[in-house]
Amino acid sequence: MRFFPPYSLLIVAGAFRSASCIPLDSRTQELYNPALAAVTSSTTTGMNTRQTATNGTATMAPPYFVIYAAEGEGPPPVANLTGFNVVCLTFLYANGTTAQWSPAAAWQNLPASQRASVKAEYAKAGIKLFISVFGSLDWPATEGADPTNTATTIANWAKQYDVDGVDVDYEDFGAIGKGTGEQWVIDFTTQLSKDLGGNYLISHSPIAGWFNATGPGLPGGGYRTVDKAVGSLINWYNVQFYNAPYLYTTCDHLLAESNGTWANSHLASQTSVFEIHEYAQVPLDKIVIGKPVTLHDAGGSYMNGTYLGTCIQQAKQDDWNAGIMFWQYSNVSSTMIQEARSLAFPL
Ligand SMILES: *[C@@H]1O[C@H](CO)[C@@H](O)[C@H](O)[C@H]1NC(C)=O
Ligand SMILES: *[C@@H]1O[C@H](CO)[C@@H](O)[C@H](O)[C@H]1NC(C)=O
Ligand SMILES: *[C@@H]1O[C@H](CO)[C@@H](O)[C@H](O)[C@H]1NC(C)=O
Ligand SMILES: *[C@@H]1O[C@H](CO)[C@@H](O)[C@H](O)[C@H]1NC(C)=O
Ligand SMILES: *[C@@H]1O[C@H](CO)[C@@H](O)[C@H](O)[C@H]1NC(C)=O
Ligand SMILES: *[C@@H]1O[C@H](CO)[C@@H](O)[C@H](O)[C@H]1NC(C)=O
Ligand SMILES: *[C@@H]1O[C@H](CO)[C@@H](O)[C@H](O)[C@H]1NC(C)=O
Repeated sequence: MRFFPPYSLLIVAGAFRSASCIPLDSRTQELYNPALAAVTSSTTTGMNTRQTATNGTATMAPPYFVIYAAEGEGPPPVANLTGFNVVCLTFLYANGTTAQWSPAAAWQNLPASQRASVKAEYAKAGIKLFISVFGSLDWPATEGADPTNTATTIANWAKQYDVDGVDVDYEDFGAIGKGTGEQWVIDFTTQLSKDLGGNYLISHSPIAGWFNATGPGLPGGGYRTVDKAVGSLINWYNVQFYNAPYLYTTCDHLLAESNGTWANSHLASQTSVFEIHEYAQVPLDKIVIGKPVTLHDAGGSYMNGTYLGTCIQQAKQDDWNAGIMFWQYSNVSSTMIQEARSLAFPL
């Protein structure tokens, strides 16, 4: 099994997936029918409201409040998304297939008319729908996938299945550890932006530690290298401040000074929000703070919503306004985002 530290949360999620293998059809029926009744075809204008930036990527203003749908039920109903403005469906793989039972598969299997209706509902609620690609179980560079062809495959899928953006959850630890993964991501992102043609959003979801570019574990410079090369094509980063037991768990360690060496690795040092900004020079409005929704949604770094809300308030006072990402959607995710937003971005 490909299981390197830092352990990806997405591996943890795999365990949940097998526990929830309800046949896709019954799930989608259950979730979509009530929602669809309220939708009329005259509201299907979401596609036309995008703005196009000259650098080839669509624009969306921060803050971003992002939720990953990681279990089989497809896009969550708008009624359960209060507080969020971006939903990422997991996962589309580099080879163009979707993970079994995944929300991405559910979306792909819906009739086009139902996809359009859901999109219209989302647009009405101000929610963008993303397809998240790769994830921790798909290591495209290590497997020898061509970055340019892969980007074209992904872009075609995004267009065919009518999402607003592509989230690049690249977790090829093997290739990054060798220093070859960075160029793969750069080539991929360049082609993706080209193929998407300026009408789609692009986010990336690196682990926080990959912004430390000088440690021995990141010979290729990690995401600092990626950001230097193609940062202008990336709308924001859903930075994974998790799966790092005991790290990023206080406001100070999350925002100002990430503490310590994690499993004797350099990866956790100098990768708090403001350190990423200072050392990697990533703009503060692109560093979205990613956290698990519950203690069980990741291998560590959980903060409760009330406490996280105080950190968010501190960060906002220091001119950060990128937003919050949670892994993963459940019956408590909306409560969590509302708590985390309550002081700085109240609804
Ligand atoms: C596509 O990639 C996924 C993830 O790496 C893999 O599990 C699956 O077997 C591949 N499918 C095909 C048809 O190659
Ligand atoms: C693209 O360029 C525009 C105009 O310079 C800028 O506002 C926007 O933030 C850039 N897009 C991204 C994704 O960085
Ligand atoms: C980092 O800080 C947390 C919270 O104070 C603490 O539990 C943990 O032991 C620290 N980690 C290291 C490696 O110092
Ligand atoms: C990254 O990690 C190395 C090794 O632990 C450390 O010396 C360096 O200061 C860290 N910070 C940055 C911003 O590279
Ligand atoms: C939330 O976390 C903070 C900081 O760890 C703690 O002091 C507080 O008791 C927690 N609140 C709840 C409701 O668990
Ligand atoms: C959320 O769902 C879990 C089971 O997945 C259940 O145990 C829990 O009671 C539910 N919580 C709420 C607030 O509905
Ligand atoms: C979604 O909202 C409905 C209506 O409030 C509620 O019954 C259901 O439990 C919610 N589902 C989740 C997953 O939050």
